[in-house]
Amino acid sequence: MKNIAIVLHTNSGHTLKFAQAIRDKLVALGHEVDLLGLRIAGSATPGFMFIPGAGGGRFTIKSPPEVTGYDVILVGGPVWMFKASPVIMRYLAEDLPVIKGKKALSFATLLFRGGARALRMMNDELETSGADVLEGEALRYFMKFNEAELVAAVDRICERVTS
Ligand SMILES: Cc1cc2nc3c(=O)[nH]c(=O)nc-3n(C[C@H](O)[C@H](O)[C@H](O)COP(=O)(O)O)c2cc1C
Repeated sequence: MKNIAIVLHTNSGHTLKFAQAIRDKLVALGHEVDLLGLRIAGSATPGFMFIPGAGGGRFTIKSPPEVTGYDVILVGGPVWMFKASPVIMRYLAEDLPVIKGKKALSFATLLFRGGARALRMMNDELETSGADVLEGEALRYFMKFNEAELVAAVDRICERVTS
């Protein structure tokens, strides 16, 4: 039995749905899982017409979760402007302690492009924190998830983190 933390940012609920499916499968396999959603003060979404500095993107993370007590740490968020969520990136850069030797895996949801880059960005930060980084999953959808793709991605994640 492993203690697993899933730290996530979600704006419109898709990443939460992915995270809940991962949690449900891991719990069914006999693991202890905590789903730790990041709460923010301010606005993380980009400013007017995505012009840098035009108003958005100023936020702080409220009570960032402490993950040192877990064996495995999963982190996830949406792809924004072909990059990882700025909220999860801020958490990884500023709030994640050294997690040397712990397994870690990143996941993302997106509509069309940027999944591989988002995973790379999160993985780089996880590596900097000393984690043993496993291959992540970026799940694309249109309107809603394809159930078979969701189940397959969840299965791959659970296989990697529990083996
Ligand atoms: C500000 C913003 C930027 C986005 N940029 C991208 C993008 O570059 N590539 C993409 O495929 N989807 C993009 N999307 C769509 C989101 O990645 C997608 O809807 C995601 O699943 C949202 O996750 P959430 O429901 O957990 O917030 C963007 C959405 C928002 C709000």
